[in-house]
Order: sequence, then C-alpha cells, then structure tokens
Amino acid sequence: MINIEDKYKELTDSLNEQIPFYPEIALILGSGLGEFAEKVNTIKTIPTNELPNYPHSTVEGHKGFIHFAELFNKKLLIYQGRIHPYEGYNISECVLPIHIAHKLNVKKVILTNAAGGLNHLKPADLMLITSMNTFNIKKELTELIGLASLEMRNRFLDFPSEHLNKIIRSAALKEEVPLKEGVYWFGMGPSYETPAEIKMVEKLGGDAVGMSTVHEAVYASALGMEVGAISCITNYAAGISPNKLNHKEVMETAELVKGKFERLIKKIIKLL
Ligand code: HPA
Repeated sequence: MINIEDKYKELTDSLNEQIPFYPEIALILGSGLGEFAEKVNTIKTIPTNELPNYPHSTVEGHKGFIHFAELFNKKLLIYQGRIHPYEGYNISECVLPIHIAHKLNVKKVILTNAAGGLNHLKPADLMLITSMNTFNIKKELTELIGLASLEMRNRFLDFPSEHLNKIIRSAALKEEVPLKEGVYWFGMGPSYETPAEIKMVEKLGGDAVGMSTVHEAVYASALGMEVGAISCITNYAAGISPNKLNHKEVMETAELVKGKFERLIKKIIKLL
C-alpha cells in the first residue's frame, strides 16, 4: 500500500493555493444525487481533472467536481462524483476525497450513495446506515486504518458517529422525510450482485447493497472525523424483483428521490 500523504502532496499543495476557505463539513454525493451541488451557494468549483494525480471518474452520473460552497453559514466541501474500487482504482486512491477533506481540517463527513434494497427497503426509500459489512475489501480496510493512524489499530472504529446519526434522525423528523435504517453491504462490482449473493447478504444481516462508501467511512473515522452515511435505495436488490437491474433504473429513481434528499441534507447541514 502506498503512502497517501506523499502520493498526493502535489495535489493537496495545489489545492491549498486555490481554496476560498477551510470547509467544516464534507459531503460526498452518490450516483444520481449530484444535483444537490447546484442547490447551495457555490463559492468556487474545481474540476478534479485539473488537480494533479486525481483519478478520473468513469461512471455516468458522477461528475468530477469539488465545490466549495456555503449553506446556513456553514462552509461545505462537496464532491460531485466519487472514485470506486470497481473502476479499477485501489482503495488508497478511492479514499482521496477523504484524505483531501482531512488535509483541509474537515471534522464532519456526510456520505451518500445509491444502493439496492432488500428486507424492509424498497426503491425510493432513504436509509440511514447504522452499520456496514463486506467480505471483499476487509484486508484493504484494515491496512487503511493502519495507514490512517497508528492509534486506531486494534481499536473499535467509531462508525457511524452516534452524535451525527442523532442529528440526521432529528433532521428527518423535523423535515418529515421518512428515513429508514439498516446495514450497508459493500460489493466489489463492477456488476450488480447475483440473486444468490443477495440471499447470502440477507442471511448475513445486510439491508442494502452498494459499491462505495465503506472505505470512505472507515478511513474518515480512523482519521478522527465524525461520519454519517445515507443510502438512497434506487432499486430492489437482485432477485427480489423479477426485473433485471440496470444503471438507468438507478438514475431514474435517484431523480424521483432528489426532492426529499435535498430537504434532508439541507436540514442536516443546518443542524450540524
Ligand atoms: N447493487 C450494487 N450497487 C448498487 C445497486 C445494487 O443493487 N443499486 C445501486 N447501486
């Protein structure tokens, strides 16, 4: 595993020269949820392809922009587009947005994603992530924690932050946005899961499946940030409904949900 600090020094130095302010809260927008970035007061946008060594996003629905924005007097760092392991990037590249946030002294992180639902989750639900699981990248995650901080080794990882989750629940109540809760299961992709995999996930306690977020949450927590995460359920997980999954359905459902998603995220930012 590479040294993230060294590898991205040129990038973070370049960013430091361009930023309009030091942000307090970082927000990563998941597939189809990027439009939120247009609903805030943007002070400065930096295309990620102008930053040295920033991995290119190869997924439809993921623009490569970093926005410095304001809302309710809070200073935000918004990632419109993320980096996924299934794009062929290694975990230390996928956590670059978190590394940058840490370098800019961000203390709170809200992660969002699109996910397939099972158990009590159905398309267009929003789900507060209460815990996560994966087989796929467990080893890399453990290495990441070691990389992030020596003191986190062999210690309980504080994800999700109970403090943030309290705020997220309260934001949902106040905005009257129904918010379910459940366990996020990371799959490596790039294809969606098989129905058999989903049966396994169901038996092992997963409620939503997706291909992101886990490494970001683990890394940010290991760096001492408070992390909360929300899934937008865009489809039934494979085998739950007879329809074949596709990225178009994911994007279409995200489009349907964007109103309540926007209200919820704005309220969370207000309460943070
Ligand atoms: N599986 C994995 N990732 C996803 C899904 C899914 O069903 N929906 C959106 N992202």
